[in-house]
Amino acid sequence: MRKTYLIFFTISAFVFACTHESFGTLDLEMLNLIGDPKHYQLPDSDDFANIPQSEANPLTASKVSLGKMLFYEPGFGVEATHPENRRTFSCGSCHIPSAGFRPGRIQGIADGGLGIGVNGEARMMSNVYVPSEIDAQGARPLSVLNVAFVTNTMWNGSFGSEGVNAGTEARWGVADPGTAINHERLGALEGQNIEGLKVHRLLYTKELVEANGYKQFFDEAFPDVPTAERYTRKTASFAISAYLRSLLTTEAPFQRWIKGDRAAMTEEQKRGAIVFFGKAGCVRCHNEPNLGSVTFQALGVEDLFENGGLKTSQADLRNLGRGGFTGNPDDLYKFRVPQLYNLGDSGPYFHGSSKQTLEEVIEYFNNGVHENPRVPASQISPFFHPLGLNEEEKKDLVAFIRDGLRDPNLQRYVPEQVMSGLCFPNNDAVSQAQMGCN
Ligand code: HEC
Ligand code: HEC
Repeated sequence: MRKTYLIFFTISAFVFACTHESFGTLDLEMLNLIGDPKHYQLPDSDDFANIPQSEANPLTASKVSLGKMLFYEPGFGVEATHPENRRTFSCGSCHIPSAGFRPGRIQGIADGGLGIGVNGEARMMSNVYVPSEIDAQGARPLSVLNVAFVTNTMWNGSFGSEGVNAGTEARWGVADPGTAINHERLGALEGQNIEGLKVHRLLYTKELVEANGYKQFFDEAFPDVPTAERYTRKTASFAISAYLRSLLTTEAPFQRWIKGDRAAMTEEQKRGAIVFFGKAGCVRCHNEPNLGSVTFQALGVEDLFENGGLKTSQADLRNLGRGGFTGNPDDLYKFRVPQLYNLGDSGPYFHGSSKQTLEEVIEYFNNGVHENPRVPASQISPFFHPLGLNEEEKKDLVAFIRDGLRDPNLQRYVPEQVMSGLCFPNNDAVSQAQMGCN
């Protein structure tokens, strides 16, 4: 009897130790490389106390839920260049949730565009427009996921008054007049989005707010703002910015792993994380909670005009990266390190959309040879060099980024409807048909 128990215990202890061991080594190796995983833990989207925010615009549930509709609302798109396109576009025309809050094509088009396809890949310029008239920028749209952790927004970090922009006051409003808003010290997103509403031809007045059905929501979100100032681009920006700060990819396998669910990631994803935080050194630049960072690095990638971008050219200031904003030669061709969640949902990649797939991106980093001859070697980051990854390591790294960093439930951030009742995020006839809005 005793002997049987002993054998049973020995065997089960052995089996347990084995499975535990083979499951745990990868976790231990990850923990070893990562240090304190809490550094990378994103707050829940309603954990307002722990989401980075601006003192000028404290987070509230009513601002977030208003912003959640305004971001997709075509009803304010009344400053369209041609009347045919009035009230047909929104922020969501270029930041599409199912595409990781970017468009599924090289460039976003809002006013002047037609169609959406599934992920925005089918959006085209309307033939009523010529390229100079459309709303499109000379860089690939950044994702707005986890943007609460971005103290200085845009590829060149030009918005936001603190952080890396402390000391750059003399440049505010110079190369890009919109950045003069930094002087108001409203918060990077709050300031940027006031200007963004203008750039993207979205107008807010009391009449439009009422006509589109939002008056009560503005009243609930901004009771302390005098009524004469309550229905404006500024309050709309504050609501939208609050919503953007709540867009956190907390359900991604890597986030669940950080919170203690060691089974949330596959072995392949874990091996990929080990490459990311170890041998490949990705973490030297991608090291903030959103796995981006507010630092500027030159990888020497191509610009958007070379890859089919409209309304842009070799002379586009955006091609100069941080240097185009600061005017400092040291900053030329350096771009902000972007966040890495839900990137597998849609390519292409890099500010000039030069890589179609994540595999190509990893290959580019692994080769460590820059592709844009206009960027002098002296500007290229010393961290960009051949990495010597083998096929297995590259595959694992792709699995970590594509799947380990993918929140499968971004739909929770999309409203059921917008108050105007219009088709959203796009309301042009082609998009309506493609989305089944009629
Ligand atoms: C025509 C396409 C388009 C539309 C419409 C659009 N965006 Fe963008 N968005 C972009 C592009 C392109 C960038 C990157 C530009 C750059 O950095 O040079 C960007 C960047 C951003 C960023 C900065 C993210 C970061 O990490 O720095 C935020 C925030 C943002 N957009 C919010 C909005 C909001 C809010 C709206 C609606 C008012 C909006 N966008 C409408 C194309 C668009
Ligand atoms: C030298 C700093 C640095 C290192 C090291 C680095 N990155 Fe990046 N990463 C950047 C910058 C900067 C960009 C944007 C460059 C641009 O578009 O001009 C970027 C872009 C990306 C993108 C495309 C994001 C998008 O929105 O298009 C991915 C994916 C990526 N990096 C993954 C990785 C991986 C994986 C590694 C490790 C093999 C890595 N990075 C190492 C700085 C770095």
